[in-house]
Amino acid sequence: MAPRFNFDLQATDGKARTGVISTPRGEIRTPAFMPVGTAATVKAMMPESVAATGADILLGNTYHLMLRPTAERIDRLGGLHKFMNWDKPILTDSGGFQVMSLSDLRKMNEKGVTFRSHIDGSRHTLTPERSMEIQKLLGSDIVMCFDECTPFPAEEKVALESMRMSMRWADRSKEAFGDRPGYALFGIQQGSVYRDQREESAEKLRAIGFDGYAVGGLAVGEGQENMFSVLDYAPDMLPTDKPRYLMGVGKPDDIVGAVKRGIDMMDCVLPSRSGRTGQVFTRRGVVNIKNARHQDDPRPLDEHCTCPACSNYSRAYLHHVFRAQEIISSMLLTWHNLHYYQELMAGLRSAIAENRFDAFEKAFHAGRADGDI
Ligand code: GUN
Ligand code: ZN
Repeated sequence: MAPRFNFDLQATDGKARTGVISTPRGEIRTPAFMPVGTAATVKAMMPESVAATGADILLGNTYHLMLRPTAERIDRLGGLHKFMNWDKPILTDSGGFQVMSLSDLRKMNEKGVTFRSHIDGSRHTLTPERSMEIQKLLGSDIVMCFDECTPFPAEEKVALESMRMSMRWADRSKEAFGDRPGYALFGIQQGSVYRDQREESAEKLRAIGFDGYAVGGLAVGEGQENMFSVLDYAPDMLPTDKPRYLMGVGKPDDIVGAVKRGIDMMDCVLPSRSGRTGQVFTRRGVVNIKNARHQDDPRPLDEHCTCPACSNYSRAYLHHVFRAQEIISSMLLTWHNLHYYQELMAGLRSAIAENRFDAFEKAFHAGRADGDI
């Protein structure tokens, strides 16, 4: 029998947790950061390079892949793992969030969402049932429920209606997903910044029963303070024995704050996207490589970093290839950023395992500049 999906919580330090998610495609060490591979690629990276940064799992997107090259084509070609040459676990988002942020002429009702493709204007429909079908065709290891990410700000009544529809969609997602040993289905909590709504949502999801639970509807413009306020209680409403995934987060300090509050998994385009816009994350803060002050600097981006960009190239070189719009600029900076994020996760995991999260958090913030360095 294929090994099943399992979460082994190994240690806690305060509310912070470390553990291992086991799947037939390999283990995911938590807290885990998932690089974003929207269009069946982590932009500017070979899959083996993504693995070399320490990533155990990637995120893929239902919305993009259903439009191009289509889920049916990927299925015919042997599934997303084979198609993109990534044999470790893949989590796919369910599409609703991307429809609302990217597509044209959207119409939402109880059944689902109809929209026009941002690529060619063609008409499509996503429902909980269709989203489950697409994520199955892709061969996703961790499937996300089809939900509505409630925009921020939302009045209480609007947020409540939105959350309750997402919970009805969670019911339909679970029903459509069925019983698939070795594959996981995660529920997504909504409820905006309203504690009673977060509680109602969590109760509903726990009653349905999922393999993991996401906190959705955050990192949508509410700011870190509001996000942390919600994270002060929302993760506690979810089962302790299942992974908790904070969707779409975040900056390095968001990640540290979320892990401190009991989050096990995160994803964000920030390290990969910033790699292409010249924004570099280091332990001392953000470096903007396009800044002219780097043009004669023989030092590496970060003298402690062991990534290829820092081992073999100067800031002057990285500045030059960025300015010259050379492809290697995106490759090196993305590699560095993903390496930095994975090293941060590894640091968090050992700090929690060794009961020194507070000291880790202090050291993380100390000597860190807010602006560019
Ligand atoms: N990505 C960021 N936030 C969300 C959310 O609330 N729902 C989904 N499906 N994806 C997200
Ligand atoms: Zn580096």
